[in-house]
Amino acid sequence: MERKRILSGVQPSGKPHLGNYFGAFRQHIALQQEYETFIMIADLHALTTIRDAELMRSLTFELALTYLALGLDPEKTVLFKQSEVPEHAELCWIFDCITTMPFLQRAHAWKDAQTKGKKEITVGLFNYPILQACDILLYKPSLVPVGQDQKQHVEMCRDIAQNFNNIFKCKVFKIPDPYIPKEVAIVPGTDGQKMSKSYGNTIDIFADEADLKKQVMSIVTSSVPLQYPKDPNSCNVFNLYKLFANPEELKKMENNYIKGGFGYGDAKKALLAKILEYFKEAREKYLKLKNQKAFIYEVLSEGGKKAKKVASATLNEAKKKIGYI
Ligand code: ADP
Ligand code: TRP
Repeated sequence: MERKRILSGVQPSGKPHLGNYFGAFRQHIALQQEYETFIMIADLHALTTIRDAELMRSLTFELALTYLALGLDPEKTVLFKQSEVPEHAELCWIFDCITTMPFLQRAHAWKDAQTKGKKEITVGLFNYPILQACDILLYKPSLVPVGQDQKQHVEMCRDIAQNFNNIFKCKVFKIPDPYIPKEVAIVPGTDGQKMSKSYGNTIDIFADEADLKKQVMSIVTSSVPLQYPKDPNSCNVFNLYKLFANPEELKKMENNYIKGGFGYGDAKKALLAKILEYFKEAREKYLKLKNQKAFIYEVLSEGGKKAKKVASATLNEAKKKIGYI
């Protein structure tokens, strides 16, 4: 029997962080055992924010390196760059022509940019959900594993697929489901908002130890003095600690908070130790692979070829239904 397929994408728009890991990467790597997995580096999407060639190259490399260090197996999983598969941009035009402006105006990212009074919102940012629908639909995945913030994009993708299938009376595009594990749906950042590259509140997976310490120490906490009891669940440090600790360790930490005499500095130290321990092996692999540039480029180039095969077959099906071929 054919294995079911998953596809997900991540923008190379900053250093990969704990939100990316728990919200996305960890699921991608676990699911590759069971599913035929496609992981895409969304460098076309990243052009909405990154406008420096060297930075684009280095962040793309960093993202590929991070996935491989965390255990993505290029024998099992297709890791590729979106810009290597022009079918994404081609399908995007097709969907542009069947999607309305009010539909896109519902997107959170667009609404956010508007409310923040951003003056120069590009057509690319407005069109972002359509390109994301192309990324997904070209590969006909059953599931799209993402964090909670991407739920709306997957829903829009489903609507776009239905719309095409209805207009052209066909079943070219498979309707995918989002896959969002509850407990890691939104990882908080150092300021308590959603951790995100664009908010500058990240804790980076492979930051060197000194930077990692700085990031952990910068987590915002309440002003309750050391000797007083504290509420664990409203504390950013505790909420991050939860992601790493086993039930016993968690209970112990909870008690520390409740009984008092335990400062936020102590909690941060415990969190830092957990992060270092959790990623110890991956960090060693990261440092080793960092110097194997040719290998990483080879993985991306092979992945690009495999992805293109699948994408162009789907695009051709769509083109036939439209009457281009
Ligand atoms: P960022 O918001 O930092 O730019 P991306 O948009 O590149 O992150 O997200 C890549 C993947 O990581 C997506 O699947 C997204 O849902 C997930 N993700 C990002 N931040 C978080 C977070 N704070 N909590 C859970 N998942 C997240
Ligand atoms: N928009 C996603 C994010 O910011 C990245 C992305 C692009 C993606 N194409 C995708 C995610 C396709 C899942 C499927 O995180």
